[in-house]
Amino acid sequence: MKSKILNGQYIANKLQLKISKKVQSKLKIGKRPPGLAIILIGSNLASQIYVSKKLEVCKKIGFISQLWKFSNLVKESKILNLIEKLNKDSTIDGILIQLPIPKHINKKTLFSSINPNKDVDGFHPYNTGLLCQKIPYLRPCTPLGIITLLKYYKIKIKGLHAVMIGASNIVGRPMSMELLLSGCTTTITHRYTKKLKKFTKQADLIIIAIGQANFLTKKWIKKGAIIIDVGINRLDNGKIVGDINFNSIYKKASYLTPVPGGVGPMTVITLLKNTLKVYEQNYYKK
Ligand code: GUN
Repeated sequence: MKSKILNGQYIANKLQLKISKKVQSKLKIGKRPPGLAIILIGSNLASQIYVSKKLEVCKKIGFISQLWKFSNLVKESKILNLIEKLNKDSTIDGILIQLPIPKHINKKTLFSSINPNKDVDGFHPYNTGLLCQKIPYLRPCTPLGIITLLKYYKIKIKGLHAVMIGASNIVGRPMSMELLLSGCTTTITHRYTKKLKKFTKQADLIIIAIGQANFLTKKWIKKGAIIIDVGINRLDNGKIVGDINFNSIYKKASYLTPVPGGVGPMTVITLLKNTLKVYEQNYYKK
C-alpha cells in the first residue's frame, strides 16, 4: 500500500488566492485592508521563523501587519499597555502573541487581556470555552488547519478513534475538541501516559505534536491509519523533520502529512482566515 501525502502547502496556496481575491474586492470599494498585529518577545529562533512566515503571507494577500518586538527582559506591564492600545485600534482586526513567552510574564494575564473578538489565535479563555461548549468562534489555528486539510482531501473522520500524542494548549487540547466536534472518539496521550503503544496501535487517526524527531515508527501504528505530523525539528545536519519517521511509516499509513509542507502552511493560512473573519464580522457585515 502507498500512503497518500496530504499537501498542506498546495491547499494553503489555494486558500491564499481565495482570501486575496476577497481582500482585493474590499479594497476596490474603498475599504481598508484587514490588519494583524504580532507581538514577539525574546529571541527564540523558531518563533522568529514562524513570525516571518506569517508576515510574508500577510503581505502576499494584501493584509497590513504590524510586528511588535521586545527583548526577553521586557516588563509585563509594557505588553499589557500595548495590547490595550491594539484592542482599541480600529485598523487592527487580529492580535497574536507568539509563544513561547518568557517565564516572568503571566500567560493567563496576557491572553485574557486581548479582546476576545480580536483573538485570532483562539487562545483567550473565552474562545477556548466556546470551543469546549460546541459553539466555536475563533478557533486555534493548527487544529482548525488540520481539520480544513482533512476536509479538502474529503477524508471522513466521523466515528474514527483519534489519538493525540501531546497535550499542549496550542495543539493537543484544542485538537481534541475539534476532533470531538467532528464526531471522533478521542484520546489524549502525554508524557505520563502508560503503554502509549496500546493506544497508537488501535488509532485510526494519529496527531502527533511533541517536538521529538523520529518518535513514531511503523511498529507503533495500525495499517491504514491517518497520520498527521505537527512536529518541527531541526537535525544536526540542518534538515527540518517532523515527529514521525517518514520512511518507516510511508506505505503503512493511508494518509500522511509531510514536514515541511504539511501542517505548517495550514496553520498560517488559518490565522489569516481567522483575521479575515473578524474583519468581515466587525467592520463590514452585510
Ligand atoms: N508557537 C507555536 N505555534 C504557535 C501558534 O500557533 N500560535 C502562537 N501564538 N504561538 C505559537
